[in-house]
Formats: sequence, C-alpha cells, structure tokens
Amino acid sequence: MLQNREGFFVISMHSIRTTAHLLSQILLLFVVVSLHVNVIAQEKELNIIKPGSFLYAGKQPRSWPSPSGHFEFGFYPQGSGYAAGIWLVGRPENTVVWTANRDDPPVSANSTLEFTAQGTLLLRTENGEEKIIANPSSSGSVDSASMLDTGNFVLYWKRSVVWESFDFPTDTILGGQNLSGDHNQLISSVSRSNHSSGQFLLSMQPDGNLVAYVNNSAELDTDDAYWDTGTDGYSFSVLNLNTRGVLTMYSESNLDEERVPGLLENGSTTGNETKIIYRASVDPDGIFRLYSHQLESNTISNFAQNLDDVCDVKGHCGLNSYCSGKGNDFGCYCYPGFTFIDENTKFLGCSQNFTVDGCEARKDLSIQYKITALENITWAGYPSYVKHDLDKEECKKACEEDCSCGGVLYSSTGCSIYGLPLKYGRRQESIMTTAFIKVIIGSTISPSSGISPILINEGNRSLILTMGLSLGSFASLSC
Ligand SMILES: *[C@@H]1O[C@H](CO)[C@@H](O)[C@H](O)[C@H]1NC(C)=O
Ligand SMILES: *[C@@H]1O[C@H](CO)[C@@H](O)[C@H](O)[C@H]1NC(C)=O
Ligand SMILES: *[C@@H]1O[C@H](CO)[C@@H](O)[C@H](O)[C@H]1NC(C)=O
Repeated sequence: MLQNREGFFVISMHSIRTTAHLLSQILLLFVVVSLHVNVIAQEKELNIIKPGSFLYAGKQPRSWPSPSGHFEFGFYPQGSGYAAGIWLVGRPENTVVWTANRDDPPVSANSTLEFTAQGTLLLRTENGEEKIIANPSSSGSVDSASMLDTGNFVLYWKRSVVWESFDFPTDTILGGQNLSGDHNQLISSVSRSNHSSGQFLLSMQPDGNLVAYVNNSAELDTDDAYWDTGTDGYSFSVLNLNTRGVLTMYSESNLDEERVPGLLENGSTTGNETKIIYRASVDPDGIFRLYSHQLESNTISNFAQNLDDVCDVKGHCGLNSYCSGKGNDFGCYCYPGFTFIDENTKFLGCSQNFTVDGCEARKDLSIQYKITALENITWAGYPSYVKHDLDKEECKKACEEDCSCGGVLYSSTGCSIYGLPLKYGRRQESIMTTAFIKVIIGSTISPSSGISPILINEGNRSLILTMGLSLGSFASLSC
C-alpha cells in the first residue's frame, strides 16, 4: 500500500456524503445541459462531417473545427512533418490535447486523413501506408462524425455515439472526460513539442488508488511510484474531470452506500464558467496539473498540481546522480567520484570510471577504494539487504566489506546496502540520512591466481583486459 506523500489533491472523506449529494446534482445538471446542447447541435446539423470527407497535411482543409471554433481535429506540425490529433485553439500557441497513434513517426505534407465511405477514420501516408485511427464500422455502421465543443471527436450511427476520442486519452483529460476501464492511464508527452509517449504515467488503478509512476516498463512497480492518493480499497475506478473543473474519483456503480465519490480538486470558482475550458494533464516533467483556459482573455492558468517540486518526481536525474532543489529550480548532481555521462545533458546520469564485475567470485582480486559520506540523501530501488542493528560506523564498514556494495544509506531505521547503479537519488535537508558512497580507485590481482580476464567498465563503455599473470608478477590497475 502506498501512502499519500504530499500535494494539493487531498481527499476529505468526512465531507464525502455532502459532496456526493452536491456532485450528483451537478452531474445531473451537467447531463441535462449537455443533452440539451447536443440536441440543439444536431438539430442545426452543425459541423457534421459526412463519410467521404478528406483532410490534407500540406493544404486546406487541414482540420475540422468544433462549432465554437475552440477545438479542431486534423493535422498539426510535429517535428519536420505532421501528426493527427485534436488541439485547443489558442493565441499564439495551440494546446494539443490528443494525438492519434502518438508513437508513430510524423508524416509528410502529402499525407491525408479520410473519413471513408465505410466510416473508418484513416491516415494515409505519402507512400500509401494506411493507418487506422478509428474503425468502429468493423462492428457496426457509421454515418457521420463531429468535432464537439468539449474537445471530443465522435463518430455516430443514427445519432448515437459509436466511437469517441474521449475513450482513448493520451496525456490529457478535458472537462467531461473519464479515465477508466481499459483506458485508465495518462502517459506524459516527451516534451511540449513532441507528443510521443514520455517518461511518466498516471494510473487510475482497479484497486481504487490513483498513482503516478515512472514509465519504465510494461509492468508497473511500486518502486517506480512517486505520488498517489492513498485510496486503495475505496473501490474507485473512474477519474472524472467535469466541465466545471471538478476532479473526482468515482466507483463504476454508485449503488453501494460506501461507494461515494472522492473529491480531488475543485477549480470551479476561478471565473465565468461558460467561458472556461478545463484540462488535466500529466506534463512532460511528470507533474499532474489542472489548467483552466479562459477563452475570452486567451489566458491559461495552472490552478492546482499534485506535486510542487520537480525533484519529487522520480527519474528526473539519471542513474548514479541525484536531484536537488525546489520547485522548478533544480539540478542533477553526480555522487562523489562519479562524472556526468554527458556534461551537456546532465539528466542522463553519471558513471564511475572504474567498476569491477563479478567481484565476489574473484578471491584473487583486491580492490582499492575510498568511501565518501553525503548527508540528506534518499534512493529508491531495492537495497541488496538491510541491517537494523548497526551504528553509523558499522554501516559504513558493512559496505567496505561487501565488494558488491556501491553505497549504503544510514538512517534511524537501519543500514541499507545497495549495489550500483544508484537510482532515483534525491537530496533534501529534511531527509535525515547519511549515505556512504564507495568509489573504486583501482584493483590488484594477487600473484597466486592463473590467467584470467578482468572485466572493467569505463563509463558505459567496457574494455576487457587480459593479464599475463603466469609471469608471476601482479598487475595494478588504477586511474
Ligand atoms: C519524439 O521523441 C521520441 C522519443 O524520444 C523520438 O523517438 C522521436 O523521434 C521524437 N519525435 C520528433 C518528431 O522529434
Ligand atoms: C464518466 O464516468 C461516470 C461515472 O462512472 C459516468 O456516469 C459517465 O457517463 C462517464 N462519462 C463518459 C463520457 O464516459
Ligand atoms: C576518472 O575519474 C576522475 C574523477 O573521479 C578523473 O579525475 C579522472 O580523469 C578519470 N579518469 C579517466 C581515465 O577518465
């Protein structure tokens, strides 16, 4: 079970009954209003897209706008080409809120988007490759499409929705959108200008907990988690942002008395609601932020976020380095004895210029090292082992005596022994720990051993040195 560390999104369970009542009324109102709006929109047949319509990356029409003109679906510039998606129109910059096939490379100016006669939404690249964006016609029929003013692109059959972009969120949910079921994750974009899958992920888990992770592998690991609501066991399964900027977790069925919504954030007091579009995004830096876009003044404000310090997000600084600083003013630093892999790209992490692999099996090897202390450090990753009854000096000694030890972390709760690489390092004054880092400065092979190679990694390159030890001499490797 994960603990809620800190942040804006605090769930007040005591006020949940009144909240539930209020929210059900708001929701009811919202449903009535949106039904009404939909009916009007359909009656006027506003911006209804018929099968057989085309968009072009390199010429007009490039996009299909929503009736209000605030959202558009179509081609937007990405890298040296184009991507297909949905954006919120802004001056001077648009905000991309959804991208189709986001991990595909950008397409050229000669690409087209077709809403086919069969009702399939198809991207056709210059060399004739066809990529399906939506194909609900495989299971039924489609007779029209529309870019709605909510930012949802929908396909219809006889005026009922058969496919909607809201069901496939990328890094953002808009007012009226849910994160649930098979599509319960938001994955950050690489950067503000590259909307491919980035480094961070937010998951509305089946266990009721909303958790932010480093997007490392297919298998989510609690060790990669850096924020959560601490609500596992509450049977929440839906994260909803409504059109008034209220972010809430729901249970799929609200029939059960205990299954009431959990309010995370209420942004509904920030202005004239009809002129505001709300958005919740996992940003490229891993922080989950709520934004309001004031349409009249064309301003964007970030009114809530789950974490204040970028360093609280794991993984900003690479292996064998640590993050230190406040807010957006942070830096990545190497541990003593380590150097940046790339001095110009410090977040890539650091390396030591000497490591010795398989030291335990090598009784002939004696390693020279020095140990440096560093205060106020935490690491994640699992320690090789933890010893509870050691004092500070004994903890340091435990690392000296264990050749696979890269560093130890001493705190009031014990002595944790870690191998390299050291992961998710963080330095903060409030953390009451002492880290001892082992730096290898050389190694010696005793004369009694036979001929055998020693594998030495220099930075991330590795070189194999074969020693002619039959001569009875000893070789010393040092920097
Ligand atoms: C976006 O980032 C991904 C991952 O880093 C990269 O592979 C891709 O080439 C980038 N795309 C563009 C258009 O720069
Ligand atoms: C979002 O989830 C709520 C609660 O389960 C549900 O009532 C609503 O219909 C969902 N909205 C959409 C757009 O799927
Ligand atoms: C090894 O690292 C030290 C700093 O820790 C540096 O002074 C030295 O030049 C490095 N040696 C090589 C061969 O890169």
